[in-house]
Amino acid sequence: MNIIICENYQKASQKSAVIIKKLLKLKPNCKLGLATGSTPIGLYQELIRASDNNEISFKDVQTYNLDEYCNISIDNEQSYYYFMHKNLFHHIYINERNVHIPFARAGYEKEDCMTYNNLLNQNQVDLQVLGIGTNGHIGFNEPNTSFEQETFIVDLDLQTRLDNQRFFGSLEAVPTKAITMGIKNIMNAKHIVLIASGVNKAKTIKRLVEGSISEEFPASILKIHPNVDLIIDADAASELDK
Ligand code: PGA
Repeated sequence: MNIIICENYQKASQKSAVIIKKLLKLKPNCKLGLATGSTPIGLYQELIRASDNNEISFKDVQTYNLDEYCNISIDNEQSYYYFMHKNLFHHIYINERNVHIPFARAGYEKEDCMTYNNLLNQNQVDLQVLGIGTNGHIGFNEPNTSFEQETFIVDLDLQTRLDNQRFFGSLEAVPTKAITMGIKNIMNAKHIVLIASGVNKAKTIKRLVEGSISEEFPASILKIHPNVDLIIDADAASELDK
């Protein structure tokens, strides 16, 4: 992993944006894997600015999102479909047909996982953006998910639901299941950019950088991927051995 420590969240967002802008200029029809959560919002703002300035274009870009809650409608403000449109797609010129966000219909979960998985197998992602959960999850691959896992329906970890209750108001309101790219799908990307920010991620980043590779800590698999940039701010890096 190539570790890049930035002064603060804004600098980390700018650094990740530089990498993505470079790819878009080099390969205007690239396949971009996208993430939700608080972390990539700054990156998306940088990309919107660059698109406004005609520095980059999303006209021919295909996007593939990591995950989505089950049993949530796309117009629910907490859905990842809503999040992606609010924070990126509504502000850039992108063909809606090029936007891929997984969804799982009640009663058709298996089929919907297979459809998304086939799509991923037919379209290798050039660059995957990742955040990281405090428990080490990537996408919604919670601790003890097999490294061989492909797209599936996950029972969300209590820690993940506690971390996300800030968006829903109460723990009970946080969905218990989600559809997510599996670790194997994520590892198939040619290049991965994992962003982490804030002191609440410092222990997680320490374990990622200094700990061993284990399914108990899903992000640890990234250590064997040949092309990972770990972009963290000083707060997230604050527990690393000097
Ligand atoms: P966050 O979520 O960016 O809101 O911290 C990251 C994640 O759970 O992957």
